[in-house]
Amino acid sequence: MYGTTSFRTDGKIAFVVGGATGIGYAIAATLRDHGAEVYIGVRSGDVGAAAAAQLDATYVPIDVTDSASVSSAVRTVVETAGHIDIAIHGAGTRLGKPAEDTTDEEWLGVLDVNTNGVFRCCREVGKVMLEAGSGSIVNIGSMSASVVNTPQKQSAYNASKAAVVQYTRSLAAEWAPRGIRVNALSPGYTITNMTAQSRSRPELVNVWLARTPLGRLAEPAEIAGAAMFLASDAATYVTGQDLVVDGGYSAW
Ligand SMILES: NC(=O)c1ccc[n+]([C@@H]2O[C@H](COP(=O)([O-])OP(=O)(O)OC[C@H]3O[C@@H](n4cnc5c(N)ncnc54)[C@H](OP(=O)(O)O)[C@@H]3O)[C@@H](O)[C@H]2O)c1
Repeated sequence: MYGTTSFRTDGKIAFVVGGATGIGYAIAATLRDHGAEVYIGVRSGDVGAAAAAQLDATYVPIDVTDSASVSSAVRTVVETAGHIDIAIHGAGTRLGKPAEDTTDEEWLGVLDVNTNGVFRCCREVGKVMLEAGSGSIVNIGSMSASVVNTPQKQSAYNASKAAVVQYTRSLAAEWAPRGIRVNALSPGYTITNMTAQSRSRPELVNVWLARTPLGRLAEPAEIAGAAMFLASDAATYVTGQDLVVDGGYSAW
């Protein structure tokens, strides 16, 4: 139980939603490297199959905006693997738009993926873990849950991630007596597809870098270590937390 072995995930079944790209991919690779059998939940078949082959993982189709798809994906993992020990909920989308110009459709679209998607995944994975009496869930939030990014405007995204963090705390309290830990992992600016467009704009990136004590953006692998910790038995006394991995951004 004690020592470095508790950081390993040998023999555990891990389901990583959004595991074909960016932060989700890095988390899936890290869990695999530490011994887990990995299933990745991905929207597109081609991307999912290619990523699964690279990761030595199994690909499961999922659209987190569709309850039936989420429930079917979780059922597929359980039918194949028998159970789920670790679930990482990393599907996400971003909208950079001033609040006064944000349409109903845009607002609802962001919340449907980022917030409702996490809700749907937690509910279905939760049923499986509650029946087993054990499990660890890591919901990918964002530092945007607790700081307001600048200079770009992204109120819908920020609100969607704040909801993820508070939902995570609520689940942690509700499910702790039944053996389930639930934590949020909140990255700062990370080099993925999600930030690709913004990273080509020096007027944004220069502000981000100036406001980040470490003075650089994160590589996805630098986020994955924190997810690995929360998922593993090294964190058996950690639940209801929001682990912010932001290069110090929120310290200033
Ligand atoms: N990059 C950052 O700076 C940063 C900072 C803080 C938090 N985050 C969060 O980290 C998580 C991963 O993002 P990332 O940066 O790694 O970007 P990414 O590579 O674009 O990953 C987002 C993933 O979400 C998937 N996705 C989107 N809508 C989906 C849906 N309806 N159903 C299933 N999957 C869906 C995407 O799949 P498709 O390819 O099919 O669209 C993609 O694989 C997100 O929750 C994001 O909000 C990122």
